[in-house]
Amino acid sequence: ESGSARTMSLVKDAKTERVSIDRLRTLDRFDAREDDVLLVSYPKSGTHWLAEILKNLYHCRSPTHPTGQVTLTQPLEFQDPSKLGELKNLPSPRLIPTHLPKNMVPRELQTKQCKVIYVIRNPKDTAVSMFHYYQQNPHLPKVDKWATFLDMFLKGEVVYGSWVDHLLSWDRSDNGNTLFVYYESLKKDLPKCVQEISEFLGVKVTEDQVREISKKSSFREMKARVEKEKERSDANHIVCALTSDRKLIFRKGAVGDWKNHFTQDQNSQFEALLGEKINSSELASSVEY
Ligand code: PPS
Repeated sequence: ESGSARTMSLVKDAKTERVSIDRLRTLDRFDAREDDVLLVSYPKSGTHWLAEILKNLYHCRSPTHPTGQVTLTQPLEFQDPSKLGELKNLPSPRLIPTHLPKNMVPRELQTKQCKVIYVIRNPKDTAVSMFHYYQQNPHLPKVDKWATFLDMFLKGEVVYGSWVDHLLSWDRSDNGNTLFVYYESLKKDLPKCVQEISEFLGVKVTEDQVREISKKSSFREMKARVEKEKERSDANHIVCALTSDRKLIFRKGAVGDWKNHFTQDQNSQFEALLGEKINSSELASSVEY
């Protein structure tokens, strides 16, 4: 079974009801624009965080500028086949999130040299975040035990498949058009990262604006805003369409929570199974473990 076929069946198996092979086929009809920005991540790596940063960055542009604000679309793989026309009418720049591996993303996005921001997070923390998400998300299979989940994660038998294969698929991306952003770097120095992202996108911001964006996109503020929302669900504001319940997204927002979950044996098992592939990638091996 090829990597993409496997991912497709895994996406389908997640019984999200909203995903089907037909939806993925609609990607063949996707019209990319040169100024589209693709926000790529393996799930639970900081997608919502980046989306918030990017929304605020674009917002800093002059409000009178026709493309001053970015249009956050539904994730690529969740585009409604009957609504592709609407997508066509959205003003530029469109910010398009996706958790898909590179071989499943419409070729046009690559031939048109669209900018790509890929968010990476320590896979051990990603696995822990995903475990909690599986437990609370009614659209995903129930997995009660951490050990069982970790086993699934290491085999790539979770939604969107193997973490390392996902990263490796994007690893070979043309670096001129792709910015790789580490979750751990965002945690360490958010203003510095915001500055780097703004330079990559060619969106000019002042130091005050960088400070303001960093404040608005802090875990505390993002979580507090979502907690205040009256409705738990908001289908129009989701980045990861595995749920429309935004409250499930903001759990701990920490680096190193894996240490509270992994036993020593599990850590060794992780290294033994993924270590070789991780070491083969400069990107993956630069993650703070
Ligand atoms: S999804 O559902 O796949 O799109 O999830 P994603 O947004 O990629 O990742 C969710 C995790 O990111 C954490 N998060 C943040 N951490 C720090 N600061 C900010 N502002 C922030 N926003 C989201 C979120 O809490 C999830 O991680 P865990 O470890 O579960 O808390």
